[in-house]
Amino acid sequence: MFPSHRPRRLRTTPAMRRLVAETSVEPRHLVLPMFVREGAGEPIPIASMPGVVQHTRDSLRKAAAEAVEAGVGGLMLFGVPERKDPTGSGAVDENGVLNVALRDVRAEVGDATVLMSDCCLDEFTDHGHCGVLAEDGSVDNDATLRVYAEMAVAQVEAGAHMVGPSGMMDGQVGVIREALDAAGHVNAGILAYSVKYASAFFGPFRDAVESALTGDRKTYQQDPANVRESLRELDLDLAEGADAVIVKPALPYLDVLRAVAEVSTVPVFAYQVSGEYAMVEAAAANGWLERRRTILETLTSVRRAGADSVLTYWAVEAARWLREG
Ligand code: PBG
Repeated sequence: MFPSHRPRRLRTTPAMRRLVAETSVEPRHLVLPMFVREGAGEPIPIASMPGVVQHTRDSLRKAAAEAVEAGVGGLMLFGVPERKDPTGSGAVDENGVLNVALRDVRAEVGDATVLMSDCCLDEFTDHGHCGVLAEDGSVDNDATLRVYAEMAVAQVEAGAHMVGPSGMMDGQVGVIREALDAAGHVNAGILAYSVKYASAFFGPFRDAVESALTGDRKTYQQDPANVRESLRELDLDLAEGADAVIVKPALPYLDVLRAVAEVSTVPVFAYQVSGEYAMVEAAAANGWLERRRTILETLTSVRRAGADSVLTYWAVEAARWLREG
């Protein structure tokens, strides 16, 4: 008549629940992605990402300092150049927007946080692809690698502690490691986007960087139907020298994250992408979801699935909530 096992005992009080919680989220587990736009003016709100802006150089410095103050684990910078061209030449230019911003932010925050940079061409190319194009219009893997190598060195020389190759070109980690080492940057890290799906959840990001892409990235980003190739991508990136790896997106791919986290020998990051952000913000704005609880629940879920760190546009706000307790 009475149950002999009562799991509810461990849920009776907040103190009891805290005692037995298996997963925690701390400010240091959160990395803030930030956008910086070339040119003068004010920060520009991104319509599909309410609360996120394209920073100016000034507002970026300030926001970076605030994020450090909030205790986040790192910053990931993306540049939005004024002019784009077929080869994304702004990416390798030491005076290109992202390299200038890296110099600014590193001067502002020093080693108080980990400064990371997106090492990819899609923000810089006028066709919006993550690499340079061959004559037939396809993305030329090996020609792109040469540009990534140069871009990575420029970013580290501008102040990045870690570069984040996100273009899903085969061999990208290996060529970047070789180029950094050859330039004497043996301690600059590679945070490899090892697992990245051709996802509709990147939609708002394309607004954020004013991407010119028509078509899709399915010849280089992974098919959402697959998990096995994620383990292959992981193996290859580890062999090529990745210091940490990213799985992206996060919430729709928790099974993939789990599979990667179980076998990875380096820290695993998950990227809670623009579409995941927009989805929750839209529902919360309508009063359909409790905003703070939902955000913290998603972060807990991503950590529970195996992420050591989470890249999230909510990093600063969530870090403050977590500190409040
Ligand atoms: C590529 C890159 C993308 C994102 C991060 N790095 C866009 C893409 O691959 O289409 C998406 C991040 C997000 O959606 O929040 N440089």
